[in-house]
Amino acid sequence: MTTNNLGPKAGSFTPAAGVHWLTPWYDLGLAVLTRERRWRDELVAQIAPSSSDVIVDLGCGTGSLLVRLAATEPRAELIGIDPDPAVLDRARRKISRAGAAVQFIPGFGREAARLLQGRSPTKIVSSLVFHQVPMAEKSAALGAAYSALGPGGTLHIADYGLQRTELMRSLFRATVQNLDGVEDTQPQADGILPELMRSAGFVDVAETRVIPTPTGSISLFRGVRG
Ligand SMILES: C[S@@+](CC[C@H](N)C(=O)[O-])C[C@H]1O[C@@H](n2cnc3c(N)ncnc32)[C@H](O)[C@@H]1O
Repeated sequence: MTTNNLGPKAGSFTPAAGVHWLTPWYDLGLAVLTRERRWRDELVAQIAPSSSDVIVDLGCGTGSLLVRLAATEPRAELIGIDPDPAVLDRARRKISRAGAAVQFIPGFGREAARLLQGRSPTKIVSSLVFHQVPMAEKSAALGAAYSALGPGGTLHIADYGLQRTELMRSLFRATVQNLDGVEDTQPQADGILPELMRSAGFVDVAETRVIPTPTGSISLFRGVRG
């Protein structure tokens, strides 16, 4: 948890790059430090957007995943949710430059069910969000995603998961935990996410990929709303 993140207290969140003043450098840092193209391409392949999909990106940040989803299937309906007005501004500009259409909604993961009422999402996706939110928010956001999806809807997450080797643990400590703190990030590094997904009600939960990066390994997860 960063010093500006007061945990589950309403209105507080860890910004994209850990601290607000680094937000303009977030996209560049991500590209350089996370092998972004590799895990985003694999995530989009796993999401496999179709023309009838309503896809919600929880914690959409600057909109990089939404741009790729729109390029892959322009007919899918896309919605981005994020609590940070500064990243939403960047996301709107990026989507507009890409000539894509996305609806952006300010808000937290835990609010997803309420924010998405009447929209019937078929897929909820999220990248690099869960590692930097408090435990209570991880569970609440997964519960809200479950409630927002209809039966058979799917959840797709890319995030730092179980750090399996000493090298990955050291890199994760030196980078992500330095920026985002230990309290919120350590449960991720200990591999808690699949367990939390199951507790929220998701079935067929699987860690589908583990991708080593200079900041620790990033895993892809998938779950089905039973
Ligand atoms: C590391 S960035 C990832 C952004 C984007 N998903 C990506 O892949 O580049 C984490 C994002 O999660 C957002 N965030 C922080 N707390 C959140 C919460 N409780 N619910 C939803 N989003 C949150 C931040 O504002 C930030 O944009």
